Amino acid sequence: MSLDDPLIVSNTADAVNTSPQPAAAASALPPRFSCFVTGTDTEIGKTLISSAMLHALVQRGVRACGMKPVAAGAELRDGRWHNDDCDQLAAASNVHLPQSITTPFLLREAAAPHIAAALEGVTIAAVPILAAYVEMNAAADATVVEGVGGFRVPLNDDFDTADLAAELELPVVLVVGLRLGCISHALLTVEAIAARGLKLVGWVANETVADMAFADENVAALAQRIDAPLLGRVPRLATPGAQAAAAHLDFTLLPNWPAHTKL
Ligand SMILES: Nc1ncnc2c1ncn2[C@@H]1O[C@H](COP(=O)(O)OP(=O)(O)OP(=O)(O)O)[C@@H](O)[C@H]1O
Ligand SMILES: [Mg+2]
Repeated sequence: MSLDDPLIVSNTADAVNTSPQPAAAASALPPRFSCFVTGTDTEIGKTLISSAMLHALVQRGVRACGMKPVAAGAELRDGRWHNDDCDQLAAASNVHLPQSITTPFLLREAAAPHIAAALEGVTIAAVPILAAYVEMNAAADATVVEGVGGFRVPLNDDFDTADLAAELELPVVLVVGLRLGCISHALLTVEAIAARGLKLVGWVANETVADMAFADENVAALAQRIDAPLLGRVPRLATPGAQAAAAHLDFTLLPNWPAHTKL
């Protein structure tokens, strides 16, 4: 049935007289914000920056939820399997969902995901992740999805984290761990993001090591070559945490970043 159908036009007109217009109601909804956070490597600050983003969203009164679709490395505490990344993202979120939704693949062994999965006889697949993501989006107005390791980490024989970001159709934020070698790692990742048809919407320079030699020059070289806004440079923090990191970042540079302060 086409939208030009007279019956539908007439029904819509009736509805206008008795209830708010659907279009007006939709425009009153808060803007949605979602992104995929990747990094130049493992252990370079993806969780810290994702948590900072969630913290900033929550500060704005947005219903925000973090997702770590694949996590490798878990320990049993209080009768539940815990992963540090998942716990940090949950602590920074104000929408809390079952771990089966925020992390459909929680693997016990702290190893490359496809190896950890094989040890448990599990095959990581896109469909359960996409289904969980849809559920998250129904419950939250903002979602921050943290990748695994770098951008091309295999998840199964023919599916990697870049494929996952593409399946989710999310804009990408790149965390660059400032260390010797990071320029090439960052530029290769930028190329890989573009090769998947994804949009790099921002990047972060994260000082994972203290007093890196020529840090300013490295950041300048990256800024000159990356065609996306630098959201900020996070120094080596004495006590790393979401709030402390967020103080160094300007997320308003991201498209669809919610401008309102209260829902
Ligand atoms: N700017 C910083 N100052 C101090 N410590 C930091 C900083 N950035 C990251 N760290 C610390 O480095 C470690 C790795 O950071 P994080 O867990 O965010 O990395 P990651 O990229 O998410 O790692 P993974 O690949 O395991 O998911 C953590 O202990 C974190 O607290
Ligand atoms: Mg992490």
